[in-house]
Amino acid sequence: MSSICTAPYRLLMEELGCGGTVSELVSCHGINYKNEKTHKMLDIHKREKNIGLQLFGEDKEAMAKAAITAQERNPKFIDINMGCPVRKVVSKGGGSALLKDPTVLGDFFSTIKKAIEVPLTIKIRTGWDSDSINAPEVAHIAKEEGVEFVAIHGRTRTQAYKGKADWELLEDVAKEGILPMIGNGDLHTAATTRNRMNNTNCDALMLGRGPLRNPFIFLESYLKEDDDIFFSPQDHLEVIERFKTYMEEYTDRERTILITLRKNIVWMAAGYPGVAQFRNAMFTTPDLDGTMEVACEFFHNLGNMPKRIDHSKDFMAGGHG
Ligand SMILES: Cc1cc2nc3c(=O)[nH]c(=O)nc-3n(C[C@H](O)[C@H](O)[C@H](O)COP(=O)(O)O)c2cc1C
Repeated sequence: MSSICTAPYRLLMEELGCGGTVSELVSCHGINYKNEKTHKMLDIHKREKNIGLQLFGEDKEAMAKAAITAQERNPKFIDINMGCPVRKVVSKGGGSALLKDPTVLGDFFSTIKKAIEVPLTIKIRTGWDSDSINAPEVAHIAKEEGVEFVAIHGRTRTQAYKGKADWELLEDVAKEGILPMIGNGDLHTAATTRNRMNNTNCDALMLGRGPLRNPFIFLESYLKEDDDIFFSPQDHLEVIERFKTYMEEYTDRERTILITLRKNIVWMAAGYPGVAQFRNAMFTTPDLDGTMEVACEFFHNLGNMPKRIDHSKDFMAGGHG
């Protein structure tokens, strides 16, 4: 996820039970122009186990060239972003715009596939709009060209983040068994994820926003309903401190560390009482040490308070996939 899934966050999620992660979308042109910031986005932590680097772009040769560069970082796979609905990306023909003309996709996939040795994977939406649902067609083309798996966000591009992910469609596509498939969309709680995991035709499930507010969602999804295990505010604090360590290993730019921790900590505080006030305090504290003190005090004072997230309200209804 853009501006979220950098190496420290991905490592944290792997350690908290996530079976594999994908980087934020990285511009193939930025890679090819040797843009320093873009290359930083390809960083992989040495302890990350199952990480894919996701590239976006509209030009097959530029994508192939960037994929070769990305492969040098030793990812487990290279993923193509074909789900991003954002105008800046789509207007240049990248992201979900690639779903508009499946006739060019065979060539697009095979050019990139031929350039690399690690598996090639794709992340798509169900289609461009409700009149052009073509996820099965795209999956068939991908299979022909040796793409390893397809992850599908159960919305169309025009839907953006509105409405609900269409799990009926996702399950139908998965049942066809065209190629290994990862289902994605609206798995916001451990209970929903567990329920889907126990009943799905998909080979795997992908979670985007859920772990932002509940970093324990992967572990909780594997619990049985009557397991008596509870992750407390103190457990959250431990995760936050670990995240800070990983951020400090990743960059020496204090401002980046501050901005990243601040937003993630506030997301993690969702569902606890006093979160609005806490948010204000976090965003008005100018330095990292002060911000960590505010966070420590907040989580510490919560004791063993359970978390109650209101899932009826939209959360982060916008993004790059
Ligand atoms: C802030 C934000 C950034 C995102 N960035 C990416 C991205 O870089 N690549 C991608 O494939 N999907 C991206 N997505 C989409 C998610 O991967 C996922 O498909 C979508 O949020 C639906 O899943 P969820 O309901 O579990 O969040 C992003 C979503 C959000 C909210």
